[in-house]
Amino acid sequence: MNILLLGSGGREHALAWKIAQSPRVDKLYIAPGNAGTAQVGENVDIKATDFDALKDFALKHDISMIVVGPEDPLVKGIYDYFHNDTATQSIAVIGPSMKGAQLEGSKEFAKEFMLRHGIPTARHKSITAETLDEGLAFLETLKAPYVLKADGLCAGKGVLILPTLDEAKRELKEMLGGMFGDASATVVIEEYLSGIECSVFVLTDGEHYEILPVAKDYKRIGEGDTGLNTGGMGSVTPVPFADDKFMQKVRERIIEPTIRGLRKEEIVYKGFIFLGLMNVAGDPMVIEYNVRMGDPETESVMLRIQSDLVDLLEGVRDGNLDTKNLILDPRTAACVMLVSGGYPEAYEKGKVMSGLDEAAATDSILFHAGTALKDGRVVTNGGRVIAVCSYGNNKEEALQQSYRVADLIAFEKKYFRRDIGFDL
Ligand code: AMP
Ligand code: GLY
Repeated sequence: MNILLLGSGGREHALAWKIAQSPRVDKLYIAPGNAGTAQVGENVDIKATDFDALKDFALKHDISMIVVGPEDPLVKGIYDYFHNDTATQSIAVIGPSMKGAQLEGSKEFAKEFMLRHGIPTARHKSITAETLDEGLAFLETLKAPYVLKADGLCAGKGVLILPTLDEAKRELKEMLGGMFGDASATVVIEEYLSGIECSVFVLTDGEHYEILPVAKDYKRIGEGDTGLNTGGMGSVTPVPFADDKFMQKVRERIIEPTIRGLRKEEIVYKGFIFLGLMNVAGDPMVIEYNVRMGDPETESVMLRIQSDLVDLLEGVRDGNLDTKNLILDPRTAACVMLVSGGYPEAYEKGKVMSGLDEAAATDSILFHAGTALKDGRVVTNGGRVIAVCSYGNNKEEALQQSYRVADLIAFEKKYFRRDIGFDL
């Protein structure tokens, strides 16, 4: 069959790499893709949110499955767009319906959903400009630090964690006043949870589910988790504290109530659910839902899936995921992201990259995040440039291998963290 994958980051290169290994795939297209996805499929110059152009392309190229990488097209309703049109109804879209995508598209929706279904999460209150006084009063009942979240999508920037009550009150007013445009017209105020985070990925056909490898990502630019937030500087899987006992709680308290809740509310959901969890003294609590895979978690998670991913996705499409077998690689996988100097603030693009052939000849796997081809040479084309992913018998081995290969790749002002996995 022909598959169309949407997106253009390291996550999509990792998905494309895995999908392309399936004997079930005749042709893999990636829209818009990057220099890495072009190595395993054919890039198509269409934006992931241009549904009309995607429809034309899918019909012309006999696409039978669309795999959606990023959240944007899902929140904008790509599932419903294809499903409700008789011409495209038979094309399976892997991802939730527009309603289901609200689990990520609206923090308020997600919190209310968890409340309705008894899913453990931080205490919260949703506030608008009209209810500002209630918000200020609610802040008084909480202890520092204070968590404020813009309700809508803000490309990962909509969460503020503030050390003092005064700052929290001031920022609440700023957010409601349009700090993040419409996305912060509603603000969710949350109790702060302390613990260690992990990312749990679930694949569901709406009834059955499989849990993919649990990973931990490293979001801050600086070693020791300091400095500004980024799109992700590295990841490791598995996560030692996500042991059988912890995962049993995750199944019983979070995954099963989530899938039952979706069914009960007649919300169509056939795709990935990404649970951002906090381990609070051994008990999992939901920090956030995302309706897609994580980046850069996918880059290490895909290394550990031995089964044919397309076979699993067919199970999602056909509603028989329970008949499929998820086989995992027992080894550790770790990913180290090489970024442009200056990122996540101002940085330069277009730096010529060298050492890629040497790096590709090692046991590590390279996933491109922000690269481009210019006059036949690979150049940097983003803040996050390339993910170096490796296997090991433990995290030390996997990381050592990734760092060795990270040192082989050169471009001006290259930066990466050398302490990925330090807290595990
Ligand atoms: P989110 O966009 O919801 O993932 O939030 C971004 C980051 O803020 C999370 O990955 C956490 O590190 C942190 N965070 C969000 N909510 C809370 C909370 N209630 N308590 C502690 N940290 C939080
Ligand atoms: N790694 C976190 C995310 O993809 O949102």
